[in-house]
Amino acid sequence: MQAKMTVNKAFTISETDPRIYGSFLEHMGRAVYSGIYEPDHKTSDSKGFREDVKALVRELKTPLIRYPGGNFLSGYNWEDGIGSVEDRPKRLDLAWKTVETNEVGLHEFIGWAKEVGAEVNMAVNLGTRGIDAARNLVEYCNHPGGTYWSDLRRQHGAESPFKIKTWCLGNEMDGSWQIGSKTADEYGRLAAETAKVMKWVDPGIELVVCGSSGSGMPTFATWEATVLEHTYDYVDYLSLHSYYGNKKNDLQNYLAMSVGMDRFIKSVTAICDYIKAKKRSDKILNLSFDEWNIWYHSNEKDSKNEPWQQSPPILEDIYNFEDALLLGCLLITLLKNSDRVKIACLAQLVNVIAPIMTEKNGVAWRQTTFYPFMQAANYGHGTVLRHNLDVPTYDCADFKTVPFVESVSIYNPDKDEIIIFAVNRSANEGVDFTAELQGFTLSNVLEFTEISGHDVKQVNTKDTYPVVPKETDAVKVGKNQLTASLKPLSWNMIRVGLN
Ligand code: AHR
Repeated sequence: MQAKMTVNKAFTISETDPRIYGSFLEHMGRAVYSGIYEPDHKTSDSKGFREDVKALVRELKTPLIRYPGGNFLSGYNWEDGIGSVEDRPKRLDLAWKTVETNEVGLHEFIGWAKEVGAEVNMAVNLGTRGIDAARNLVEYCNHPGGTYWSDLRRQHGAESPFKIKTWCLGNEMDGSWQIGSKTADEYGRLAAETAKVMKWVDPGIELVVCGSSGSGMPTFATWEATVLEHTYDYVDYLSLHSYYGNKKNDLQNYLAMSVGMDRFIKSVTAICDYIKAKKRSDKILNLSFDEWNIWYHSNEKDSKNEPWQQSPPILEDIYNFEDALLLGCLLITLLKNSDRVKIACLAQLVNVIAPIMTEKNGVAWRQTTFYPFMQAANYGHGTVLRHNLDVPTYDCADFKTVPFVESVSIYNPDKDEIIIFAVNRSANEGVDFTAELQGFTLSNVLEFTEISGHDVKQVNTKDTYPVVPKETDAVKVGKNQLTASLKPLSWNMIRVGLN
């Protein structure tokens, strides 16, 4: 099969915002306890955080970590996580029916995030709490000193403010499973007033208001419109959440699910612009896709969990090769929408539907999905180029005219290179892929790696890593044209140097 991508240096989508490679760590399951934090582990630092996990998070190069939830957030008292650890309360977490010890709280997490090179995307509880707790948290984190909350932070050992820039106004407030869920009007009013006051405390912060918890919600679209009617002038981003899974074991349909993500983004963008027009506003509201991932392998097991355990193994999906391919398509889709999607958080980071897994008292290891994310987060920076892609398409159960190749190209002027990410969705045919890169003069291939040739159900384990990128030389460059062979069912990253 042939595929031809045509780009021109003058036609661009957007600069990438590094936060598009954000992730998420919730106080749930083994994400924190026996994930990033395990004081008895042989690699743990003086504060109890695992060095082997830190090393993998650094490898992944995620620049932003959303915290502390998730559904957990809507019952969380942030004050439970400050001050001496011995005095912190153990609480029932009603979201996941577990027990939270609060051993890890604000200072511990922020310190850890700094060590792995990430900023914190802090979320405030708008389920059981409201304006007061939120404004106090901003004061605690970001005010230099001389007030009750900022001085308390200093007493607790952080002389300088944490300077947290990006904040979420609650989590999935439209969902009946959410502690303190709300109607769009109830939430919209509360979010607007909370946003206003948080920005009075620190005008430098940016705020994410909750969109629907998924495009399948019955209130989807009207929720967004109503919430934005209330909050448009006070917030900076609207959130999207979506999880995918091959529940019907239909490979071609599964790999087309990024088309659904694309539609979702375009629909939410249209709603933002509708409210913009209605309000006669100059402001463009951007998007934060702050929960996206594959989540379905663990559903059945998790339905049998015993309640009120401390950090039980929940949502521990073990990902396979086809999941890595879809994750690649989803990443490409986010990049192709980088004019509006400025923040995106892979949900989640460690043990809970995560690219990084840990064994208690044992090793930390990389799932199949680790690799496309790691390559994109390491190399996918610069100007995303608009393209025309000429490629055969297919129809499947839920989508029509799905291109066999999903791809994106990015020009990085700082490194003088072009990066192409491409997934070949075809199970049977390789693709002769041509990229005509008008306005660029190519010099040499810096790297062509592919993940291919595996059974679609092949997984990585703590002991064996079959699903990893491998170098290939099936690429040629001319003056402004590149040709490459994309194997059937493959994730590909091509980096080309420029003259
Ligand atoms: O990421 C797991 C859960 O999915 C989050 O807690 C919640 O926000 C979403 O429903």
